[in-house]
This record gives sequence, C-alpha cells and structure tokens, in this order.
Amino acid sequence: MTVVRPATPADANAMAFIEANNEIMRVGVDGARPPWSAAAIRTTLLARGRAWVALVDDAVVGHIITQSVDDEAELLAVGVAPEARRRGVARALLSTAHAAWVAAGVRSATLEVRVGNGPAISLYRAFGWFAAGVRRGYYADGEDAIVMRWEIG
Ligand SMILES: CC(C)(COP(=O)(O)OP(=O)(O)OC[C@H]1O[C@@H](n2cnc3c(N)ncnc32)[C@H](O)[C@@H]1OP(=O)(O)O)[C@@H](O)C(=O)NCCC(=O)NCCS
Repeated sequence: MTVVRPATPADANAMAFIEANNEIMRVGVDGARPPWSAAAIRTTLLARGRAWVALVDDAVVGHIITQSVDDEAELLAVGVAPEARRRGVARALLSTAHAAWVAAGVRSATLEVRVGNGPAISLYRAFGWFAAGVRRGYYADGEDAIVMRWEIG
C-alpha cells in the first residue's frame, strides 16, 4: 500500500536519489537546472516549498515538490522510482498536492514538461492540467517544454 506524507529533511537523500536517477535527468540535464542535490532539497525546497513523499513498505519510492506564492502554485518536480511505477504512486502524490492547494486557497498552478514525456503529460491531463504554451528549446538538449496549467473550476 502507498502511504503519502509530508517530506522532512531526513527524506532529502532519498529524494535526491529519485531526482538523479530518473531518465528525464539522464537524457541531458534539464535546461533549467541540474538534478537537485540532497543539500539543495533540504535547505531550499523543503524550507520554502511544500513537498510530499510516497512510501511503500516504509521506503521512499516517489516525491512531489511544489511551491506557491499567494494563490498561485508551481509544481517543480514529481518522480517515482522506476521499479515502483504504474501502481498509482504519482496519482497518490498529485492527489495530495491538489488537496493541499485547495485547502490553502491556491487557485491555479503551472509546470513545465518535455514535449516528449508522454507518461507525465498523460498523468497531468488525467488530473485536469491543460497545455498553456510552449517554451522552444527550453531543455539543454534542445527539446521544447510544454507549459501546463491547472485551475480551480
Ligand atoms: C511520470 C511518472 C511520475 C508517473 O509515475 P507513476 O507512479 O508510474 O504514475 P501512476 O502509476 O500514478 O499513473 C497515473 C497515470 O499517469 C499516466 N501514466 C503514467 N505512466 C505512464 C506511461 N508509462 N505511459 C502512459 N501513461 C502513463 C496514466 O494516465 C496513469 O493512469 P493509469 O495507470 O490509470 O493509466 C513516472 O513515470 C516518472 O517518475 N517519470 C520520470 C520523471 C518525470 O518524468 N517526471 C515528470 C517531469 S515534469
């Protein structure tokens, strides 16, 4: 069973491992940023933003990292360990983040995703996210980013 709880500084190493080992990072580091280190996750993301981890049998297998200002949120990262995929882990993480946003008065959110990242785009669409624009050549390898938005209906 998947359990989702708020991330703590003690989760930073596991979160950095998930970040560094997903194929999105391996295929040419994200143009906007290198994979986050455990230190960066601890000192910046967990201090300023809101993040949750998903656990299966007490092991961290996925995370979602967000930040928000007033009623606008940004989804910075969602990642699931390859061996734990297609079992609803990302779905559980997104449900948690969406519920927290609604409870906090967030009205809309944005994210960027590689145009070729079919699994992630399907995931976001399933949660009502829609394409709102394209950033040409956004990633280091020249791939475009789709800007997606989620809004409270
Ligand atoms: C994208 C990612 C987070 C999905 O995680 P996951 O736990 O496997 O996803 P779930 O099992 O919760 O799937 C939820 C929905 O996402 C979509 N989805 C997930 N993986 C998919 C795939 N390989 N192909 C097509 N759709 C997929 C489906 O709509 C799925 O619903 P369904 O199982 O009812 O068809 C995971 O593949 C991953 O970590 N990828 C690398 C990192 C990444 O791309 N992050 C996003 C960057 S913006």
